[in-house]
Amino acid sequence: MTMTAPAFRTRLTALFGIEHPILCGGLMWLATHDYVAAVVNAGAMGFITPRSYASPEEFRAGLRRCAELTAGKPFGVNLYVSARPEANEALSGFLDIAIAEGVRFVETAGYSPAAFLPRIRDAGITVVHKCTSVRHALSAERAGVDAVTILGMEAGGHPGMRLTGAMVQGAEAAGALSIPVVLGGGMGTGRHLVAALALGCEGMLMGTRMVVSSEIWAHAAYKQRLIEAGHDDTRVVMGTFRDNYRALDNDTARAVAALEAEGVKDFERYRPLVQGANTRRAYETGDPDVGLMSVGQSCTFADAIEPAAAIIARIVAEAADAQARLDRLRAGRHIRAEQG
Ligand SMILES: Cc1cc2nc3c(=O)[nH]c(=O)nc-3n(C[C@H](O)[C@H](O)[C@H](O)COP(=O)(O)O)c2cc1C
Repeated sequence: MTMTAPAFRTRLTALFGIEHPILCGGLMWLATHDYVAAVVNAGAMGFITPRSYASPEEFRAGLRRCAELTAGKPFGVNLYVSARPEANEALSGFLDIAIAEGVRFVETAGYSPAAFLPRIRDAGITVVHKCTSVRHALSAERAGVDAVTILGMEAGGHPGMRLTGAMVQGAEAAGALSIPVVLGGGMGTGRHLVAALALGCEGMLMGTRMVVSSEIWAHAAYKQRLIEAGHDDTRVVMGTFRDNYRALDNDTARAVAALEAEGVKDFERYRPLVQGANTRRAYETGDPDVGLMSVGQSCTFADAIEPAAAIIARIVAEAADAQARLDRLRAGRHIRAEQG
């Protein structure tokens, strides 16, 4: 493997002031200060997920701790916007705290961030909006975000209702938007980074691949389950509620799928299975069957529990190898052309 890391300079590295064009998306329950600081110190960008903390005050303390751990290097916060205004009240409070604590970057996701953009922009915060369709990416661009992450259907969590693959999403979005486009969904190696850049994107985003980082507080037994999982160990459920969710194909996901197959439309029948408390408990105990666990197909690339910096360093070295391979292929063609 190549020892010297390549310096991929893109509009994304310029926008976030990062060394590598890699974003690590928000992780509900898991993306706390220890993990995000590790990602930032490794030269990528991470986003603290406020609901990972028990209270807004703990979230504020987490932001302060993150700033200490990065020695003042800027980091991000994830804001998952709901379609229901009442559900966004807490979000508004999280945004106030992030602004007061001097957070420089926000990753929005879910519903349109337009209602929050004036406040975010007034605070001088850079915004990357994560979405699952080119149409939504274009409307986020019009609304004034700085960059967009487009997700393929391979993604863990919410891959969108249309289930378009990352190869199509990345090429189409990069062609259609003027602002930087980041590609997510199924990304887990340096080959993906080079592929995303080749598609015209400015970088890649990972979620699932990073869950096995040592700095993620989840039980080691859960991480081990991810390491053992292959790309066909995930399942998309909750389409009944127009809320596709890619999860580990465990007992819970199969029970949800069985209800959907029966045609059950009453959410109360699903609630005991899908409630977030179960997921949190699974992370605490390491039992991978008791909750709906966000896992993408890129779990197949998670191969060891190691520090986030080691994972990112490996990916950057792989990207150098992938780039070198492309250079060799071009050189080969050149030589054949001369011989012919
Ligand atoms: C465990 C887990 C929790 C997640 N929680 C959130 C979240 O709270 N907010 C969000 O915007 N995205 C969330 N996501 C999505 C990721 O930020 C990212 O978009 C996605 O994982 C990318 O696809 P990948 O899993 O194939 O890398 C989560 C993903 C995982 C795996």
